[in-house]
Amino acid sequence: MNALEPNLKKRPEFINVRVRRQDAPGKEPYWELHKIKYEPELNVISVLQRIAAQAKTSDGKKVNPVAWDCGCLEEVCGACTMVINGRVRQSCSALVDRLLAENSDELVLEPMSKFPVVRDLQVDRERLFHNLSRVKAWVPVDSYYDMGRGERVSREDQERNYPLSQCMSCGCCLEACPQFLKVELERRVGESDEAYQARKDAEFDESFVGPHAISQAMLFNNHPTGKTLADDRLEALTGPGGIQVCGNAQNCVAVCPKEIPLTTSIARTGRATTLYAIRKWFEK
Ligand code: SF4
Ligand code: SF4
Ligand code: FES
Repeated sequence: MNALEPNLKKRPEFINVRVRRQDAPGKEPYWELHKIKYEPELNVISVLQRIAAQAKTSDGKKVNPVAWDCGCLEEVCGACTMVINGRVRQSCSALVDRLLAENSDELVLEPMSKFPVVRDLQVDRERLFHNLSRVKAWVPVDSYYDMGRGERVSREDQERNYPLSQCMSCGCCLEACPQFLKVELERRVGESDEAYQARKDAEFDESFVGPHAISQAMLFNNHPTGKTLADDRLEALTGPGGIQVCGNAQNCVAVCPKEIPLTTSIARTGRATTLYAIRKWFEK
């Protein structure tokens, strides 16, 4: 027995894979059952490749290949995130032998539920990136000239920042968060690209910013150059859809594949926004 398949008692001949499919944005989803030959040490991406290659269901009906997203194949880009056997995670690092040890009957693959479906297992994570821009999750650059060495960063700050810097914008924390609700706007007949985008942006700006963006705000507020935008970030986090929406259910921290201390970031943000509000009040 391989170390990667610790509890797989008997190797099955076939793997049943139930996929929640959707042909286009806004269309009705439906379930489809696929069957592939068992091979040891598959990951979910390789299962999807085999399903795409055979392009037919378990009862032999010819179907379009299932669509999904992936990039790095090593749990770095976050693109392949989906719900596998009820748990949100990356399909590139989801090992089939382990999944079968938990549930030998079938693999169940679904798109994340908090983002609009583009097709099948592909979702549109635009809002996730929009929310990073709401909190200016970057280090501002005022020129590209050589400005010499940056400020020295203490070991304590390095240790505090490094875990937060590992966020890959995968969306697992948003999928698990009960306060982060899906926003999906249908395009109106005759609506221009600009008008549709403006309507989406306005809706995103009113909705909960999410734990990933809160945590990135804390990362950049603790960076020697990034902190020049600290007040802008705190302003965004005290506005509509800000930190006050978090119900502290702590689901986010439990599912983060990078084990980012999201609830610590949320607590830090709570303290920072309170101090910011008091300072603003005295500056009136
Ligand atoms: S702690 Fe806040 S951000 Fe995290 S899951 Fe709960 S409500 Fe969402
Ligand atoms: S905080 Fe964790 S779960 Fe959330 S987007 Fe970043 S890596 Fe993914
Ligand atoms: S393909 Fe990049 S995280 Fe899975």
